[in-house]
Amino acid sequence: MHTRRIPIDPANIDRAVIKEAAALIRAGELVAFPTETVYGLGADALNASAASKIYAAKGRPSDNPLIVHISRFEDLCAVASGEAARAGRLAEVFWPGPLTVIVPGSDKVPRETTGGLKTVAVRMPGHPVALALIEESGCLIAAPSANTSGRPSPTEAAHVAADMDGRIPLILDGGAVGIGIESTILDLTEEIPLILRPGYITKEMLEEALREEVRMDPGLCAVRDKKTTYSEYCDGSPHVSAARGAGTGLRPKAPGMRYRHYAPRAELIVLEGEPGRVAEEINRLVRSRQAEGKRVGVIAADETRSCYRADVVAGAGARAQEEVIARRLYGILREFDDLNVDVIYSESFDTPRMGLAIMNRLLKAAGHRVVHV
Ligand code: TXA
Ligand code: MG
Repeated sequence: MHTRRIPIDPANIDRAVIKEAAALIRAGELVAFPTETVYGLGADALNASAASKIYAAKGRPSDNPLIVHISRFEDLCAVASGEAARAGRLAEVFWPGPLTVIVPGSDKVPRETTGGLKTVAVRMPGHPVALALIEESGCLIAAPSANTSGRPSPTEAAHVAADMDGRIPLILDGGAVGIGIESTILDLTEEIPLILRPGYITKEMLEEALREEVRMDPGLCAVRDKKTTYSEYCDGSPHVSAARGAGTGLRPKAPGMRYRHYAPRAELIVLEGEPGRVAEEINRLVRSRQAEGKRVGVIAADETRSCYRADVVAGAGARAQEEVIARRLYGILREFDDLNVDVIYSESFDTPRMGLAIMNRLLKAAGHRVVHV
C-alpha cells in the first residue's frame, strides 16, 4: 500500500484535507494524525473490522484495548454505560486535553476496540487537527499511538512514517507535537480513582479537580522499588536482567503498561544517584563497552551533557524545563536507533511535576534496568 503524507497547518486547517482523511475513516481505513500528546493511528471505533486493522498495522497484542477519541462530551455517553458525574467534572477542567478516563463500557463498542474488557477508555484530544478529523468523520476514533508495537511513540510525522510506511493510506503531518508523552489514564471504575498511566496531568491536579483522593496504580511502582547496585551491575554479566528489578508480583492494571514498550533497539540502562558519581560511572561504563566494540550513547540533562565522552551524547533539556525533556525523550530514543547505537546509558530525570511520567516511560524503555550508584 502506498502511504501518503499530507502536511496540515494546525493554525490554518485545510478543510479539503480533513474531508479526505474523514472519508477514509468512514470507509473503515486507518489515518495517522497529530494529537497534543503523540501521533495517533485512527480508525472508526465502532467498526470492528476497522479497529482490527489497527492491531495488524501495529503488530499489537489483541488483548491491549484502544482509547476512543471524541470531540464532544455527549459522545462519552455513546460508548459508556452508567453514571458519568466524575467524568463530567474532569472534562470541564481538562478536556479537550491529555487525560483519558476509563468508564464502564456500553455494548455498542466492539471487542476489537475494548480488547474484551467491560470498560472503555475515552479521551477528547486537545489538538485542532484531531478534533477536526473526529468531527468531520462523524465517527468516534479509536487511536493508539501510531508506532509499531513496542517502539517509542511518535512525536513527529517522520516517526510515524518510519513505522507505518506501506501499512496505512494516510498520515496527516501537523508538525511536532506539544507534550510528547501519552495522556494520563485515570480509571473511574474504581471506588478511589486510580491512575493507570502517569502523564502531563498529575495526581495533584486530578485531586484538586475531583476534590477527592486519587491513587497511583501500585502495579506501576512495584518494579521501581527494587534497584540494582552499581557493584551488582558490574559483577553480573553486563546485562542486568529486567526480572531482577521486578518480582513483587504486582502487575499494572492497564494491559499496555505490562509490556516492554517505548523501547529503542539498543540496550538502555538508567543510572541514578548523585550527579557527579553518575557521570563518573557512566563514563567508565562507556569506555568498557566501547572496548568491546560497541557504539555507545548517553542521554543527559543539558547541565551535565558536557561531562560525557561517548559516541553520541543527547541533551534531553534543562532539568528546570521538564516539558522539554518530556517532548524530546521519544525522539532521542529513535535518533539513537537511526545512528546504530548498541548501548545507551541515561541519567535519571526525577523532575518535580512530570518526573513520574518521564521516568515511567524511560524505565519501561529500559526494561526496568536501573542501576543505583
Ligand atoms: O495520549 C494518548 O493517550 C495517545 C494519543 C494517540 O491519544 N494514545 C495512546 O494509546 O497512548 P495507546 O493505545 O498507545 O495506549 C492506550 C493505553 C494502553 O496501555 C491500554 O492498555 C490502556 O490505554 N487501556 C485502554 N483501554 C483500557 C481499559 N478499558 N482499561 C485499562 N486500560 C486501558
Ligand atoms: Mg502506545
